Amino acid sequence: SITDCKVINLPKISDPRGNLTFIEGQSHVPFEIKRVYYLYDVPGGAERGGHAHKALHQLIIAMSGSFDVVLDDGTEKKRVHLNRSYCGLYVCPMMWRELDNFSSGSVCMVLASNAYDEDDYFREYSSFLSAMKPS
Ligand code: TYD
Repeated sequence: SITDCKVINLPKISDPRGNLTFIEGQSHVPFEIKRVYYLYDVPGGAERGGHAHKALHQLIIAMSGSFDVVLDDGTEKKRVHLNRSYCGLYVCPMMWRELDNFSSGSVCMVLASNAYDEDDYFREYSSFLSAMKPS
């Protein structure tokens, strides 16, 4: 549920020469990392996401700049602002998400529990809702 989707504070080695953050699968992130992808060169006003995953676990990090993630489990919504390289938003399976409010030059990195699979997506909000609320 939406309460499982939490901002995780990642280890941060502070240093006057520049900070360092590291992430290890299954220890800092509650899944094994099988894929990494990132969004960049996002034009002002653009929205990404707009889908849910059936089984995929993800950790979303603002590597540079900032953006918002709107989570929706079909009942409840919450908007999370990400703007720190040492904070990751864990997104569990069966969670509709939209990303917006990208600052210029922002980079959104996503750690994922599986390889890309179009069959793992709900692309239609109505089919996501019927899966969440079977009548
Ligand atoms: P999509 O998941 O819809 O992007 P968003 O990050 O906005 O949610 O993916 C956009 C396109 O990129 C879509 O055609 C599928 C393709 N894609 C891959 O080929 N591999 C990947 O790992 C990802 C995330 C997307």
